[in-house]
Amino acid sequence: MKSTFRAQDPAKHACDLLLLPVFGAALKGRSQDLDAALGGLLTRCVAQGDLGKSAGATLLLPVQQGLKAARVLLFQCGTEGTLETLREGLTAAFTLACKSPAKSLALLLSDAQGTGYEEDGLIVEAVLAAHYTAYRFQRYLKDPKPVAATSLALLQSGRASAAQQKALARADALARGIALTRTLGDEPGNVCHPTYLAKEAQRIAKGHAKMSVEVLSEAEMKRLGMGAFLAVSAGSAQPGKLIVLRYRGGPRTAAPHVLVGKGITFDTGGISLKPGPGMDEMKFDMCGAASVLGTLSAVAEAGLPLNVIGVIAAAENMPSGVATRPGDIVKTLSGQTVEILNTDAEGRLVLCDALTYAERFKPASVVDIATLTGAAVIALGSPATALYANNDALATALLSAGEETGDRAWRMPLWEAYQKQLKSNFADMANIGGREAGSVTAACFLARFTKAYPWAHLDIAGSAWRTGGDKGATGRPVRLLMRYLEAQCA
Ligand code: BES
Ligand code: MN
Ligand code: ZN
Repeated sequence: MKSTFRAQDPAKHACDLLLLPVFGAALKGRSQDLDAALGGLLTRCVAQGDLGKSAGATLLLPVQQGLKAARVLLFQCGTEGTLETLREGLTAAFTLACKSPAKSLALLLSDAQGTGYEEDGLIVEAVLAAHYTAYRFQRYLKDPKPVAATSLALLQSGRASAAQQKALARADALARGIALTRTLGDEPGNVCHPTYLAKEAQRIAKGHAKMSVEVLSEAEMKRLGMGAFLAVSAGSAQPGKLIVLRYRGGPRTAAPHVLVGKGITFDTGGISLKPGPGMDEMKFDMCGAASVLGTLSAVAEAGLPLNVIGVIAAAENMPSGVATRPGDIVKTLSGQTVEILNTDAEGRLVLCDALTYAERFKPASVVDIATLTGAAVIALGSPATALYANNDALATALLSAGEETGDRAWRMPLWEAYQKQLKSNFADMANIGGREAGSVTAACFLARFTKAYPWAHLDIAGSAWRTGGDKGATGRPVRLLMRYLEAQCA
């Protein structure tokens, strides 16, 4: 979807569908002019209750005369005019628009300005909602049904300011990053394997002068001593890869922010095999990795003035005659040993070595993103990503980024009291901590490998994809990460 600003009288703008935001019972500003041109039709629809009062209500009206638009879509953003109700309204409106035959869309921007959010808020939310609702994953359909809408005109009275142009460009970059993350997540495990992720990283790096990529093979990881990582990919015919994607947007000497992604391209559980029902969803076990690639491509496209490094631990967790057994003991890159009591707790095994590897970058911060535990889904469901951190300033920065964007996280404890659950009789630690507090003990395991830098862990098992009839990757937490990194530039 191509978005552009247009300084034009909305009554004279020719388009297939004109989207008009409504705030509570009132039509504002230029909507009133449109209403007059339509002989009071819009006021009547709102007054009669044809358009509901709560945020997200919509009403589609064909236009016979008075306007150049073929249809008008009223959408309710609520009386409060908060960012949250605005999002609800825009999502409902664009969902409908993307299901309609309308090719050219227009949104009346000026009416919504001066409500409870910053000036650029509406632009960013509109562009993101348009892209988000236009997303389809139809690569494998014989008869794909593409969304008709291809353009969005943002209508306002005056010419767009430089700040508005920048907001639009950043929103476009972010929207493309989110779409990339969703596409990679939705790709099946037979296509999206570790080598595929490595090729995607190379493709992204090729598109930007300030990016470079390095891919470590299993042989190189063996030489380094990444025994935990290799124990996970041991059972798979697909070789594991450690992918390092660098973006140099800041001064040479500035310490980089490192994002580490769990990239299990399919998680069968290994010898500790998962039950059959729903196992297909374990193709989403690389959504952390996908969010790292999506964020880095957005950061590069937006040209943020800082250094960011993505580290992706890509492997497939399979059972086989050469797979890791429960009870096996491995040595991690840190030198600590791990007794693998459950081969299904594999995410922490690939991550611990990737996190130790990250030390070499002397990072300003390290954030890992992982679909790490079913327990995180039980604890918080889909509204919140579980956040753990060994540094309060970093935790606060991530929580704020989540609140500001609606891509929210909630902080969980990393207390020493949980560490004892990881005791092993035969190695420095076990890779599981028993039934209680499963998301916390997984984070506690990672904490043993992240003492050298400010670190946070995002367990996105509940937020990265939707299950059920609407099954698919959400693109979270790319928005949170992008906002976090933008804040680090200031
Ligand atoms: N990828 C899963 C976590 C997961 C499970 C995410 C279900 C979303 C939905 C992870 O590798 C895993 O299997 N974790 C185990 C850990 C357990 C063996 C300690 C889990 O959560 O059951
Ligand atoms: Mn697992
Ligand atoms: Zn997993």
